[in-house]
Amino acid sequence: MKNILIYLGLVVVIVALYGFAFAFAADKGPDGKQIFLDKKCTTCHYVESAGIETTKKSGASDLSTVGDVMEADFMTKYLLKEEKIDDKAHKTKFNGTDEELKALVDWLLTLKAKEE
Ligand code: HEC
Repeated sequence: MKNILIYLGLVVVIVALYGFAFAFAADKGPDGKQIFLDKKCTTCHYVESAGIETTKKSGASDLSTVGDVMEADFMTKYLLKEEKIDDKAHKTKFNGTDEELKALVDWLLTLKAKEE
């Protein structure tokens, strides 16, 4: 009987440790790549380097190297339609939280032609 109690106690401790590990892992904030997919950016874009395909039949643009040409502040404003490129605002205004937009921009900026 005593052995069973010790065994059960161990199981409880292990489950609790897993719970903690999971809680910490989930605390990293939103995942930019997932937001890119969730917000349907793929209706107009693809990211070849990340294996993300577009649903657009033709004329979609690849964002594989967008981290080489843009900076965080500008990209954030561009996606909120507060900035323009070649006098043109982005097609869609980002709808989501600031936290999601930040994670999205952070992820997009990691997309570069060459590893640093
Ligand atoms: C309705 C179509 C459409 C949707 C949806 C869309 N975009 Fe765009 N996006 C464009 C067009 C058009 C351009 C400008 C020209 C180009 O790069 O094709 C552009 C440009 C960009 C650029 C600048 C690229 C560069 O090299 O200058 C970024 C970054 C970008 N989009 C990110 C996003 C993100 C992130 C989403 C999802 C939140 C998104 N786009 C959704 C059409 C779209």
